[in-house]
Amino acid sequence: MPRCIPEPYRIKMVEPLRMTTREHRAACLEKAGYNTFLLHSDDVFIDLLTDSGTSAMSDRQWGALMVGDEAYAGSRSFDHMRESIEDVMGYALVIPTHQGRGAEHLFFQNFVQPGDIIPMNMYFTTTRAHLELAGGEFRDVICDEAHDTSSDFRWKGNVDIEKLDGLVEQYGSERVRAISVAPDVNMAGGQPFSLQNLREVRAYCSGHGIKVFLDITRIAENAWFIRHNEAGFADWSIKEIIREICSNSDGAWMSSKKDGLVNMGGFLAMQPWEDELFQRCRSQVVVYEGLHTYGGMSGRDMESLAVGLREVCEDSYLSCRHSQIELLHGLLARAGVPVVNPCGGHGVFLDARAFLPHIDQDHYPAQALAAEIFLECGVRTMERGNVSAGRDPETGLNRRPKLELVRLAIPRRVYTESHLEYTAEGIIDVYHRRHAVRGLDIISEPAVLRFFQSRFSQHTETLPVVDSEHHLAVPPPHYW
Ligand code: F0G
Repeated sequence: MPRCIPEPYRIKMVEPLRMTTREHRAACLEKAGYNTFLLHSDDVFIDLLTDSGTSAMSDRQWGALMVGDEAYAGSRSFDHMRESIEDVMGYALVIPTHQGRGAEHLFFQNFVQPGDIIPMNMYFTTTRAHLELAGGEFRDVICDEAHDTSSDFRWKGNVDIEKLDGLVEQYGSERVRAISVAPDVNMAGGQPFSLQNLREVRAYCSGHGIKVFLDITRIAENAWFIRHNEAGFADWSIKEIIREICSNSDGAWMSSKKDGLVNMGGFLAMQPWEDELFQRCRSQVVVYEGLHTYGGMSGRDMESLAVGLREVCEDSYLSCRHSQIELLHGLLARAGVPVVNPCGGHGVFLDARAFLPHIDQDHYPAQALAAEIFLECGVRTMERGNVSAGRDPETGLNRRPKLELVRLAIPRRVYTESHLEYTAEGIIDVYHRRHAVRGLDIISEPAVLRFFQSRFSQHTETLPVVDSEHHLAVPPPHYW
């Protein structure tokens, strides 16, 4: 019996992969300053760094590329993309951008006033950076379960309305003018919200004059969870659920590089009643991105996005994708590897604090683990912990977030079951020799979004003694 649902597609084109030696990978890591973002793609065997822009397009999408309209103004491909967004999500007003952060930039620059407090269900790195660059402040209103890697709560992406209400009490709705809610919360391990929770958030916000804007980057994956796990939605199509999610908002931005099933692109979209904000954003897209009918995207990219947004709504595709992620999650969990539960929507997340309890968070256990996995088996993953969270601007100290994770993001329609089994074996091997893994020290770091470009060296402190059964004989100096 196969353990994954068979892929509802077959492979028409292949891209060769190259396996390297351990010595070669050790040299690559040193050259890259132990940062997986600084590795060269040719040195990577299986690339689980991100699910962003790494999807395999369908033959229908490749066909659509050929009919892209590259006109500078009034491109037909923009109409197709806009119609597809309106059809799937219900938003009539659309501004294309080169990728998600282009849309975030336009939105926050035009919406936020200095001193505004924008609560979110956890943060995403670029979203928070654009909010803060526009003079706003982030507050986390995700439910407590999201910070507990062992909790099996299915809706860890839910907003805690009491936390939201506390902020409104404290700052008033003059400062808490909007909430931003993301489906399939990336930094929490790809955890979904329930539609019931979103409806409650919407009702609360409507009662207080607070806008709801969504980051719909992974909306189809969240819709799949709702269809298969939330009471009352089993008979709804994915598209109907997506439209229902969007109808509970005033607008949204999307990085199309994920659930758009394309390699580049993004957009900002709004409901008709947000026309004034929309016009302001549209007048600025020409400064930062390109004319409002292409906004940094080529005509062919808009054309293939129009197709991708419809394909992503196919339940057979989403069910197969989820079964792949569950397979990897199950192989690791059964071997005792600490993973975030339950299994998320776009990948598997390792709990690096539990994996490497002998490494203090200021020696970046998740960063060290990502480097070690690459050394072991050539699989590239990404840190989502203390490095990604950055420093507190007031104190200059690391933020030390509760979640210290390594993300194994699964590209869409790209890898097969055997790639995932190979990945699990490599990580289990690292787990068996985990006490020999060293922490890292930062050598250099940029001021903003430091995880992309920071460089590290291995921390030299003597490692704790380990007995023959791989248990710590001496407790590590800094235990959580
Ligand atoms: N919002 C979310 C939830 C994201 O995951 C991303 C990107 C963005 C916005 C920004 O979009 O990259 O197109 O500019 N996430 C990528 C990732 C980088 O690997 O998770 P972008």
